[in-house]
Amino acid sequence: MITLGIETSCDETALSLLETREIDGVFEYRVISSLIHSQAELHSAYGGVFPTLAKREHEKNLVPLLKKILDIQTQGSKSEINAVISNEEFSQKIEQFKSEYTDQNIDLFNAVAGSDFLRNIPKIDTIAVTQGPGLEPALWTGIVFAKMLSELWKLPVVPVNHMEGHVYGSLLDDEAIQGNWHKLKTLSMPAIALLISGGHTEIISIECAPNFLFNYTIIGQTRDDAVGEAYDKAARLLSLPYPGGPQISKLTEQAIKQSIKSEIKLPRPMINSKDLDFSFSGLKTAVLYAVRDSEKNNNFNDVFKLGLAREFEDAISETLVAKLSSAIEQTGAQAVIVGGGVSANNRLQHEFKTIADKYGILIHTPSSHVSGDNALMIALVGALNMNKSSSDIVAQGTKRIGN
Ligand code: KG4
Ligand code: ZN
Repeated sequence: MITLGIETSCDETALSLLETREIDGVFEYRVISSLIHSQAELHSAYGGVFPTLAKREHEKNLVPLLKKILDIQTQGSKSEINAVISNEEFSQKIEQFKSEYTDQNIDLFNAVAGSDFLRNIPKIDTIAVTQGPGLEPALWTGIVFAKMLSELWKLPVVPVNHMEGHVYGSLLDDEAIQGNWHKLKTLSMPAIALLISGGHTEIISIECAPNFLFNYTIIGQTRDDAVGEAYDKAARLLSLPYPGGPQISKLTEQAIKQSIKSEIKLPRPMINSKDLDFSFSGLKTAVLYAVRDSEKNNNFNDVFKLGLAREFEDAISETLVAKLSSAIEQTGAQAVIVGGGVSANNRLQHEFKTIADKYGILIHTPSSHVSGDNALMIALVGALNMNKSSSDIVAQGTKRIGN
């Protein structure tokens, strides 16, 4: 089965083509292609993701990205087209889309209407699209695109939870970029996941469900800001561009090399609370006060920034390590999945390895090409969830996994 994955929940427009099969009860996948168009540079001017700009960019990027991904598929084999839609039928569909979608998605509609290549029905069996959580106008763009393609090509649409995508993204093989068949990494049970992204910070307990799927229970979550959000806000206060995570991480590495430490001690929020919840807004406020004081004292300079970035990353790291360790102890987890954009952080990856050694368990982090938002993880979850109904697809601007 070949699945087209569509991801537009935030500031990455991403499409993928993934082939999957089941052989003797073992699930296997093969990546045909996975493309990501990042809008980070555009949003950088606003210090964060600007939802209507994200929507506009998705509308602009989706059709050209689809053309690229289908060209890659046909390059692989000359016979990757199933059938051709007649001019007449195509025009009828476009008329129908005009009445349904031009109110909210005029640019996307125009791009689809002007793309004759869409008359070629590709060898795709299903369309998986991120349903949520995410930015609502951005999500809807992907969903409307999926609906149009589904009507044109007569394919089912499977809605996918973005956070579940991050869970499975960490089970993809490091070598799974293109071409060969791979198996998902085996997850020892009981297992938990630590999901750390721009919109979420959650610890989830995972149970096996039939058909290689999981059931989830949230056992800890942030009470205010997400960890990626804290990184982005702290970076903005330090006059660093969006996205702030990689920027702060770079400064921290420099500070360590130059043995620069901050005189200011930032809080480690909720580090001693018995539950598995997080709170990062106080940390961000502490950075704000530290920056204000340094400006007042005329020492808002590079050394100050390096020191504070390092102290900030120490605070985040110690908090995540403490909570993850408690979660492992409380649940008896034999394996941990770490997912979400923040998991790309080198320092945190090092800490996770130390935890894995301490408890003698496996911690699965995503390889670099799937740590941020991507459509490969969406296609994968879509392929696994194929049996779910696609009739009630709606955008979910919620903050929960599994809704
Ligand atoms: O999962 P993701 O790509 O998008 C969401 O679903 O939110 O996560 C984006 C977040 C941003 O807040 C970004 O600053 C953070 O991941 N991030 C990092 C690093 N790379 C990305 N945070 C810390 N260190 C990094 N190396
Ligand atoms: Zn994400």
